[in-house]
Amino acid sequence: MQAQRILGQIRAGQSPHAEDLTWFAQGLGDGRISDAQAGAFAMGICRNGLDMAATVALTKAMRDSGEVLQWDLPGPVVDKHSTGGLGDAVSLVLAPLLAACGLYVPMLSGRGLGHTGGTLDKLEAIPGLVTELPQDALARITGQTGCAIAAASPQIAPADARLYALRDETATVESLPLIVASILSKKLAGGASALVLDVKGGSGAFMQTREAAKELARALVETAQGCGLPTRALITDMNQPVAPAIGNALEVIEVLDVLRAPRPEQRLCQLSLALAGEVMVLAGQVESAEQGARQALTKLTDGSAAERFADMVMAQGGPGDFLERSQAYLPQAPVARPVLAGDAGKIAVIDGRALGQVVMMLGGGRARAGEAIDPSVGLSAVAGLGTPVDAQTPVAVIHARSEAEADEAEAAVRAGFQIAQIGVAPPLIHGRAG
Ligand code: URA
Repeated sequence: MQAQRILGQIRAGQSPHAEDLTWFAQGLGDGRISDAQAGAFAMGICRNGLDMAATVALTKAMRDSGEVLQWDLPGPVVDKHSTGGLGDAVSLVLAPLLAACGLYVPMLSGRGLGHTGGTLDKLEAIPGLVTELPQDALARITGQTGCAIAAASPQIAPADARLYALRDETATVESLPLIVASILSKKLAGGASALVLDVKGGSGAFMQTREAAKELARALVETAQGCGLPTRALITDMNQPVAPAIGNALEVIEVLDVLRAPRPEQRLCQLSLALAGEVMVLAGQVESAEQGARQALTKLTDGSAAERFADMVMAQGGPGDFLERSQAYLPQAPVARPVLAGDAGKIAVIDGRALGQVVMMLGGGRARAGEAIDPSVGLSAVAGLGTPVDAQTPVAVIHARSEAEADEAEAAVRAGFQIAQIGVAPPLIHGRAG
């Protein structure tokens, strides 16, 4: 009867007590709660919300539904989460960058689903590299190189795995307390002592507007802090891809570009430095995020972040000379075709979702969990907002498995760019929470 009582409270718009939410989350993890009860729980919260105390309690309870990792490392252990976007390979730059700054980053990441990519898929574009790491290997590699990027095991927040799958089926993905508890339960279970969040707003993001992204950022930071995890969030723009490439191997090339020849005005570099600065403040390394970002830039320019990246790649099973011979290792699609703007003016709008869908159609993303993907395909040299073009200027290059697939993608890519007299590049960082 306890489940019915809790569901009745949620139906009436009351937030259940912490002990009840703990009981319910444990039941989600161990199967005591039925699918019908789990669906009703998600729908009730989606309709009526939860207050902050209950959101904190649910988040902690979902964290405790499985294993919570503990770290014994000689420096601060930090983590990062992004709400997902296009050309967002920040984690691949940030983890080795923070390691070069003296922090430890055992990062548990996910695979791509739908139009946005996943960090594990990007890394797995590197031949031989393994992301399914047992916990002792994750700890050993993090201890040795300062960073590792791996898949979360099924023992991490099993209540979330159950509820997340159900939310998709029950049209309850769009619920702020459920999103917050879902994201943070997994991050808290990762055992870091400080967290930085990149909450994206815009056409290519989960949150389509800046306001919605701000609201999510505030809720995430307040809840994480309520759970005892020092956290800051940057609210960032997703009206254009972060890096000028979308597709797994193509994004790794962009990561290498930042690691080898950093240009702070370039978005992937700028965002990595800004997030590094925020988490360095939380870890007590620096007084201000700006100071942290400056310190991090020195680790890019002196090559030490690149070295950490190379060490991580090798430790996770990738080639020992990846940095020197990346071109020989990264898969290349047989067809590379530029798409011309077809009009003169400035790039005024980029339909990120549409470009992400093109990459899926080319075979670079998955519609369903578990589907195989082709790491070689995607888009490169994606022109940014505000770029002046004439009819013959390429706005992107399609990388496809065949001429027929490139044909199919071409019109969709061109339609993904609107060209007008006025086109302005929006600021990458809109604000911060925490
Ligand atoms: N990502 C998650 O992990 N959970 C959500 O609910 C939404 C995005």
